[in-house]
Amino acid sequence: MSNVLVINSSLRREGANSTALTENFLARWRQHHPDDQIQQRDMASQPIPHLDEAMVGAFFTPEDQRSVEQQTLVARSDALVQELKESDVLVLGVPMYNFGIPSTLKAWIDHIARAGLTFRYTEQGPEGLLKGKKAYVLAARGGQYQGTAADTQTAYLKDVLAFIGITDVQFIYAEGLNMGDDQFARGFSRAEQQLDALAI
Ligand SMILES: Cc1cc2nc3c(=O)[nH]c(=O)nc-3n(C[C@H](O)[C@H](O)[C@H](O)COP(=O)(O)O)c2cc1C
Repeated sequence: MSNVLVINSSLRREGANSTALTENFLARWRQHHPDDQIQQRDMASQPIPHLDEAMVGAFFTPEDQRSVEQQTLVARSDALVQELKESDVLVLGVPMYNFGIPSTLKAWIDHIARAGLTFRYTEQGPEGLLKGKKAYVLAARGGQYQGTAADTQTAYLKDVLAFIGITDVQFIYAEGLNMGDDQFARGFSRAEQQLDALAI
């Protein structure tokens, strides 16, 4: 039995295309792994605050010297790190907003990229500590950017996931979703084909 952690990062609580992709993925996953535990986190309904001076200050204050306020700030990040550590499979629902990932997903990343917990610095450079996990990125886009320089999401997510040790990452794209009904249907059907082809 595995633990699957799903992070949905659309700003929409209802009708989000990226969430529809993660639901499609999960329907397939449940068929193959009915006993797996699935934990879902939705950035629209459970927003995580952006990193600020107080939070970073709390992260870098030694545990036994943290104020009560700093303990609270660190506790939120620690809980997110723990949730990720306990997962075997990470599923990210990722809309493209203004050529990047949603700022809410960036906030989550900023809370789970913690020196000493999810990566560490060595004399050979940084080392990711979350080894042996598999990640799926389900990307929803209004336009068509896969394989172009404008698709900064793919390179960024590969880099930051590798930084914390997650190197086995598979991307599924639904593109052209804001380019008319035909393109919308085609974008989703291409994503379905990619999902069907996954060895899950
Ligand atoms: C604020 C905003 C910015 C967007 N920026 C882009 C963009 O840069 N490139 C693109 O292809 N689509 C863009 N879109 C369209 C979304 O990627 C598309 O609607 C996608 O389905 C959003 O996923 P969601 O339905 O899960 O929120 C944008 C949409 C919004 C609301």
